Amino acid sequence: MDIFEKITSLAKRRGFIYQGSEIYGGLAGTWDYGPLGAELKRNIKNEYWKTMVQLRDDVVGIDAAIIMNPKVWEASGHTESFADPLSECKKCHHRFRADNIIPEELFTSENFKIADYKCPDCGGELTEPKRFSTLVETYLGVIEGEKLKTYLRGEITQGVHVNFKNVLSSSRVKIPFGVAQIGKAFRNEITPGDLTFRSREFEQMELQFYVKPEDEESMKWFEFWKEARRQWYLSLGMRAENLQFKKHVKLAHYAKAAFDIEYHARDEWWEMEGIHHRGTWDLSRHEQFSKQDLTYFDEETKERYTPMVIETSGGVDRATLFFLMDAYREEEVKEGDVRTVLKLHPKLAPMKAAVFPLLANKPELVAKARSVYEDLKKDWMIAWDERGNIGKRYRSQDEAGTPYCITVDFETLENETVTIRDRDTMEQKRVKISDIHDFIRSKLV
Ligand code: GAP
Repeated sequence: MDIFEKITSLAKRRGFIYQGSEIYGGLAGTWDYGPLGAELKRNIKNEYWKTMVQLRDDVVGIDAAIIMNPKVWEASGHTESFADPLSECKKCHHRFRADNIIPEELFTSENFKIADYKCPDCGGELTEPKRFSTLVETYLGVIEGEKLKTYLRGEITQGVHVNFKNVLSSSRVKIPFGVAQIGKAFRNEITPGDLTFRSREFEQMELQFYVKPEDEESMKWFEFWKEARRQWYLSLGMRAENLQFKKHVKLAHYAKAAFDIEYHARDEWWEMEGIHHRGTWDLSRHEQFSKQDLTYFDEETKERYTPMVIETSGGVDRATLFFLMDAYREEEVKEGDVRTVLKLHPKLAPMKAAVFPLLANKPELVAKARSVYEDLKKDWMIAWDERGNIGKRYRSQDEAGTPYCITVDFETLENETVTIRDRDTMEQKRVKISDIHDFIRSKLV
């Protein structure tokens, strides 16, 4: 099994990720997060918010609507050019995103000929690539003929730019400053797949950082955010050898620079987050289409200008998937005995600890363990397990990524101490019950 298959199996078995609408045969490109997956995803979003908003004086957060006035998508250029090239095999009729089969630099070159490429599945001839809009349409209103056609947002970005004026007038931000957001986006992907990697409904976590429209100043911020975003993944335990930057060969006409942060899996590199220099495109287009003044007045220099934008745009679902892959290990504990363990950073782990009574049939141990559990869960997500033997419980928590297992045993009843077993080293130590809070807290900084 390759890593995608292993993660798919673990994700379903342990309640991280399920196929969307599974009992009805599923719906391509949609996924549901189970009890552990919902926690992992929430922890990733919380860490993002903490790093990008809470700890920064120059970034504020917003939460804009998914459905927007359709003019937004005209202004942003999406109705005109948010489209993917589809090619179909004339023999097996499988459909492909042409730019996925053909290297980007060749696909965009003038000498490109589709006849030079064949169907990756059966070797058949491919049709000339045709562009299809990936915007997901929706209709508002109940009366036929009066319904308003609009879209489920194709990116969360525009919700920030249309609120530029509101944020300026309602908070004390001064350029350079950023607006961050986390939320759902929708795309009619031609070939959804590779688990959640290419979904039709997914979540993004983005920063739009407004800077002075000067090349040097804006490139300084571009480099700053590029490295800051890489560091964020590293700080949450992603292995450096699995990350790389990829420079975009083809830039949007308004863009000055663009890089992807890619993750290495199955001998390929996968886009996880984009860092884009968007120039003044967004604000100047919204100014043109809305006829509103979206310029910025700099009180210090007395200059008025349209700011440039440095964007960092990450996928929450892709980050979740790659944090899972990065954490996944199969370790031989002793000959013939392999444990599956998710070495997730404690900040991301769905459960911060699990509490067990050593024996489930000793009411005094169960009562004591229960009191430890009830106390800890006021502060953190804590698992309870009294099934099977202690070894099986450890293995089960290893697979769920729980960093610490706390066992209440007979010694606990005598001296108010428990054992804490570390997921990664499998070592155990005795800790006073009154010190468990501090112990867990010390692992979450
Ligand atoms: N605002 C810029 C923007 O949306 P993008 O490169 O199209 O840029 C940014 O998307 C990120 O959103 C990607 O790097 C990826 O992590 C995530 N993403 C995009 N399409 C996705 C899809 N179909 N399924 C899951 N995540 C997706």
